[in-house]
Amino acid sequence: MQNLEIVKDVFNVGYIDWEVRNFHGYSTHKGSSYNAYIVKSGNKTILIDTVKRPYFNYFLKNIKAVCDPKEINYFIMNHVEPDHSGSFPLIVPHLPNAEIIASVKGVEILEQHYHEELEGDVFKKIRAVGEGDNLDVGNGKKFSFIPIPMIHWPDSMVSFMSDENGKNVLFSNDAFGQHIATSKFWDDENILSEIFEQAAKYYANILLHLSKLIAKTLPVVGTLPIDVICPSHGVGWRSHIPDIVEAYTKWSSGEIDQHSVLIVYDTMWESTAKIAKALYQEIFSRGILVKRFRLTEMDYSDVITEAMKARAILVGSPTLNMGLYPTVAEYLSYQKGLKPMNKIGLAFGSYGWSKGAVKAIIEELKATKFDVMDETIEIKFVPRLEQLDFKDIVDKLIEKMEKGA
Ligand code: FEO
Repeated sequence: MQNLEIVKDVFNVGYIDWEVRNFHGYSTHKGSSYNAYIVKSGNKTILIDTVKRPYFNYFLKNIKAVCDPKEINYFIMNHVEPDHSGSFPLIVPHLPNAEIIASVKGVEILEQHYHEELEGDVFKKIRAVGEGDNLDVGNGKKFSFIPIPMIHWPDSMVSFMSDENGKNVLFSNDAFGQHIATSKFWDDENILSEIFEQAAKYYANILLHLSKLIAKTLPVVGTLPIDVICPSHGVGWRSHIPDIVEAYTKWSSGEIDQHSVLIVYDTMWESTAKIAKALYQEIFSRGILVKRFRLTEMDYSDVITEAMKARAILVGSPTLNMGLYPTVAEYLSYQKGLKPMNKIGLAFGSYGWSKGAVKAIIEELKATKFDVMDETIEIKFVPRLEQLDFKDIVDKLIEKMEKGA
């Protein structure tokens, strides 16, 4: 059995998921992990969160490697989404002496999830905690509970453990997580650029639309004397806490490089691709950071990560059945839900005998609160060389970018 102790008296009893490649529609090219923790404090033992249900046996084996489950006195559930609570009904019978603790919403949502599997009494006995509630577990260790509603669900909370004799640990659940499988737990034991890229992708796909709430919550978390952060996905933070907090501050405020462009499109018979490539070339020639992705070749979760970082997003689609190409329609719908902030939008596309795609793109971008340019590019069938001269429109785009968000 590997050594599960990550900080003195803190053990990771979760599961590293090397296989998962899709997390409710989000591509997880690097796998993930469902971290759950045990803290030992004198004669008290505390379990924090569980793992996705298919990995219950592994989770139980890890717990038993650390303690007898009957010795567990407190079982803290920070969040009810099934990647963290899936094993809840299975582990509860192994914990006859544990008091369960969750946020007020957490108690409600646990019952709404697991009423078929557990007696109603189990839910009635859960201790509901809120802002300012503490749990002194002796030996210098004390937990404080901080609700962080909507980061990621209404029930979400973080648990901060102060330790007079050791490290202060923030058990942050989804916050500061990344979908990545790695046998090394800490940030400084992994390739940092890869960890930050996965943290950005996680933020873009899970948290981006909650940015206003996150911006309000971050200062509260920032006041805590944190030594290490133990999230529920991916690596823990001990050497780069200010960096990940700064990244969250930037992402949640919509701060972006003013000169960065994303071109996202799809194409039926290459006409829209020709427009996309000509736009790319013109922007590239101005020395501006520009990226170009065809939706058939990229999944939405990677593209939205780029969208979060870009100032301008140029969207192209051929007209199909008087409307959008399906991949573009799906992307725009996904983007609308995640609400990237401070974006300039431009619509382009090709058509045959009737238009429709460009109008539909504009509607979707406006519904996503983009600052949509009045200029559009609509070209019938195959573009002629002179139609692919985009100097003027790129001038206007740059002018708009320079005005700032
Ligand atoms: Fe990782 Fe919102 O669950």
